[in-house]
Amino acid sequence: AGSRDAGPLASPEVIDLHPAPADMERLVIEGLRRDPKQLPAWFLYDDEGSRLFELICEQPEYSLTRTETALLEREAPAIAAALGQGVLVEFGAGSARKVGPLLEAMARQAAPAANPAPSPAPNPAPGQPAYVALDISASHLQEACDRLQRRHPQVPMLGICCDYSQLEALPSHPLLNGQAHLGFFPGSSLGNFEPAAAQELLAQLRHLLGPGGQLLIGIDQPKSRERLEAAYNDRAGVSAAFARNLLTRLNRDLAGDFNPQAFRYRARWQAAESRIEMALVSEESQRVQLAGQTWTFASGEPLITETSAKYGAEAFLALAAPAGWRGAARWSDPDHDLCLHLLVQAD
Ligand code: AVJ
Repeated sequence: AGSRDAGPLASPEVIDLHPAPADMERLVIEGLRRDPKQLPAWFLYDDEGSRLFELICEQPEYSLTRTETALLEREAPAIAAALGQGVLVEFGAGSARKVGPLLEAMARQAAPAANPAPSPAPNPAPGQPAYVALDISASHLQEACDRLQRRHPQVPMLGICCDYSQLEALPSHPLLNGQAHLGFFPGSSLGNFEPAAAQELLAQLRHLLGPGGQLLIGIDQPKSRERLEAAYNDRAGVSAAFARNLLTRLNRDLAGDFNPQAFRYRARWQAAESRIEMALVSEESQRVQLAGQTWTFASGEPLITETSAKYGAEAFLALAAPAGWRGAARWSDPDHDLCLHLLVQAD
């Protein structure tokens, strides 16, 4: 009830597909039995880890986020023109802080509606963009969608709480039906997967986006060892705190007794694999209780917390091709630190 253009905007709808919680204990046991020991990178992102990651993005040495944000702002009109009309589907939207310029450029390029609606209609006007955010955290998703909706009151929006790597298909919804699906995957998170898993993820995104789907994906570029090692081991020690927080999390969630100070943080560029490897290195020989078992660490033994691969344009397109994608366009910052690739389906 009440007029549509008065009062606060309604919250965007969020569909909760109730993603199954991961079996952390099993994954930790598997990871600690590996040689070298290595845990899935997403374990880093509990509440404190997410806070520390946002702080990493503000460090002078870590320019990825700033570079990608500026590139999206600068190239939004060209990207919108290349994408054409459709619904933007962001994978792992998090706080959804990067999509704004794209939504605005897509709206500007659309045929102006005769009577622009003051609030979002259930179906986008022809040519007008819509936005669908996918994320595993229902609370982050609702918060991000609410904030974005306040900034872009004309854009119809939907949140879907899910684990998109496990999803069979996007749900049927008026915002998605009959529109071109334009995937958006910024942040270069693909680099945190091993190449085979990264390829599998690209194939899954292609499957979810469906025939005719496109994907705009941000990929951090290889650069000098000095710059990369500094970016992942900043002077203020935020990257180190981010990694050590993993041990605090394991202590809390899996009844562990890690002493985070008994490990030193190391980030090193592995040229042959074109990746940064981040690890906590045991300062002494020690035993640790975790998940009901005793684990031994030799002095100098690493626990790999995360790897971050960097793909030049050709290497990335070679990874994407077997997943059914072909490069249609790409945009870079003036220093070629980061590349936004627009992928279209190969057949
Ligand atoms: C944004 C998830 C890709 O690998 O650069 C940054 C994660 N870890 N510093 C990256 C990260 C430590 C980041 N990703």
